[in-house]
Amino acid sequence: MTQDEMKKEAGWAALKYVEKDSIVGVGTGSTVNHFIDALGTIKDDIKGAVSSSEASTEKLKGLGIEVFDCNDVAKLDIYVDGADEINADREMIKGGGAALTREKIVAAISEKFICIVDDTKAVDVLGAFPLPVEVIPMARSYVARELVKLGGDPAYREGVVTDNGNVILDVHNMQITNPKDMENKINAIAGVVTVGLFAHRGADVVITGTQEGAKIED
Ligand code: 5RP
Repeated sequence: MTQDEMKKEAGWAALKYVEKDSIVGVGTGSTVNHFIDALGTIKDDIKGAVSSSEASTEKLKGLGIEVFDCNDVAKLDIYVDGADEINADREMIKGGGAALTREKIVAAISEKFICIVDDTKAVDVLGAFPLPVEVIPMARSYVARELVKLGGDPAYREGVVTDNGNVILDVHNMQITNPKDMENKINAIAGVVTVGLFAHRGADVVITGTQEGAKIED
């Protein structure tokens, strides 16, 4: 099985968590795209979705799934999203697709975060994947200097503007042994919109696509 086929296994397996007549929180990325395809097959059984990016919104609408404004929905039962890395405590690095801020917002209004990944995403210590940080453009250099003080090696993701009009710094060479503490520290830097560490709000369910099919840890 290729990596994309394992992503597909995970994406389709998440369908069993979707309740009839519900509004579903939908993340962003290639794994989520498989989930959206799956959601399209039951579109008449759900009310619609709250989306974490313009890209997912476009795909959802293309399949005829109604997309609700996050401000009009107080609570979601589930949020389905991928991750760039996930550890044994279900803490994650996210934001490879630059959608981290909206992802954190939709996750925050959801009861259950269902993380869908292929088996290359599981790690012992977070940080081999460069940690994305969304930053207000005028604060880019200041935030980069502060990230160096925290032991990282930030790189400006050239040519990328987030859906919120901001920029991304990818922080290399961090061994994140205390993800909650690091999430607090980076979020406290002036000019940081969001860090792509999902430690305080980790995953509740992990669905991993493997060579043997989808493995569910509930
Ligand atoms: C986007 C994300 C994605 O969930 C993460 O990058 C994983 O992507 P993929 O499913 O394509 O491997 O956080 O901002």
